[in-house]
Amino acid sequence: MRAHEAGALHGDLGQRGPAWLRTPHDVNALVPQLWPRTVTRSEAGHLEIGGVSVAALAQEHGTPAYLLDEDDLRSRCRDFAGAFAGADVYYAGKSFLCKAVVRVIDEEGLFLDVCSGGELAVALAAGFPAERIGFHGNNKSVSELTRAVEAGVGRIIVDSIQEIDRLSALAAEAGTRPKVLVRVTVGVEAHTHEFIATAHEDQKFGFSLAGGAAFQAAVKILDEDVLELRGLHSHIGSQIFDTSGFEVAARRVLELQAQIRDARGVELPDLDLGGGFGIAYTTQDDPSSAGDLAKRINKIVESECEAASLRKPRLSIEPGRAIVGPSVFTLYEVGTVKDLDGLRTYVSVDGGMSDNIRTALYDASYSATVAGRASAAEPILARVVGKHCESGDIVVKDEFLPADVQPGDLLAVPGTGAYCRSMASNYNHVPRPPVVAVRDGASRVIVRRETEDDLLALDVG
Ligand code: LLP
Repeated sequence: MRAHEAGALHGDLGQRGPAWLRTPHDVNALVPQLWPRTVTRSEAGHLEIGGVSVAALAQEHGTPAYLLDEDDLRSRCRDFAGAFAGADVYYAGKSFLCKAVVRVIDEEGLFLDVCSGGELAVALAAGFPAERIGFHGNNKSVSELTRAVEAGVGRIIVDSIQEIDRLSALAAEAGTRPKVLVRVTVGVEAHTHEFIATAHEDQKFGFSLAGGAAFQAAVKILDEDVLELRGLHSHIGSQIFDTSGFEVAARRVLELQAQIRDARGVELPDLDLGGGFGIAYTTQDDPSSAGDLAKRINKIVESECEAASLRKPRLSIEPGRAIVGPSVFTLYEVGTVKDLDGLRTYVSVDGGMSDNIRTALYDASYSATVAGRASAAEPILARVVGKHCESGDIVVKDEFLPADVQPGDLLAVPGTGAYCRSMASNYNHVPRPPVVAVRDGASRVIVRRETEDDLLALDVG
């Protein structure tokens, strides 16, 4: 969690909001780092994405809708692929996955990280080459592992002794030798929300480095020789801004690499340092560029390899949020506005925690702007809430909106490409919004809106 988020949801902040929002900002201005790259506010005052106005998109596709800027997504893929040339960039599909996005990832030459049979099925249905897929998960089922082996997935990141045994049995039966990485828990306290930190000791992922389990797992795989041990894997958490965590992780994992070499005479060829690179949700967030990240991470790996007299392994990373997060904004329509005198103004939109659970779940901060028009009205500090039967159904905790915000206004919330549609629910039987890709003046639905018939289709009672 960023320091400014602490306490922002709770307590008696009233109209004052968090300290960084004490000075009203221009409600019409678009801060570039928060928005997909083709988004502008037209002279008439409305937002445009990919050359199409939000009013036209709302009319054609309805609200709420996730609007994806395809050029922006492709340019972020290229930023990472270019900056990490010589390394493999695995797009973390858990952040958002559908067939159209899988094809973009393929066309842009990236690799793909999946972490369930469902994600694997989407990747394969879109024709993604199995050898460029990495398969994650702390509890992969036998049927998921079987499918991965049959499909010829490029690497499986093993996470438990039971999984190694299951996979070894499957491989022996299938007569193949799957390539595996050992997921290592490096014992780093990442500076992020505790639910999305993954490298401290007391959690479910990986093999502990400090306790010796990671070394034992690697040795077991090497000794049994049914699986091909390609390397070690570390993922320290998500929405991380400070690269010092990656530095500690790389050092510890490479020390283990040296320990394995010393014990078994094998230098593992691959090293995966995971994803987790933070993005800007508000003006307070200051993420590093892909280029800066690449420079720092490569430097860390090179110096640690030199210190341990190791050849530099082939590096891979697994960004999800940093690729798709900023490419999308959610377009809502305002339904009601309540000014609670002296407290705050509540602006209700036609979605909420079912299309973005991150505010409720992680106390995440977002920004918002009235998207269908510019306004000359004075800024008021507002809270954007959804339509669900829960007072924690908050989309944007605090944001300056124009005092004349009213029912019928379109409202855009940026930074919703990652972990919003992929974590969406049907709470209150609210159908999930569509994902609409926009490019060169045209839009196409890539995930259609759910209907009440879809909801009822599962209800066979
Ligand atoms: N690699 C592994 C092994 C992971 O577990 C994750 C995320 C990633 C890569 C991608 O992390 P990213 O670059 O997207 O931060 N639902 C949470 C995030 C959970 C992340 C889970 N693992 C959220 O909404 O913030």
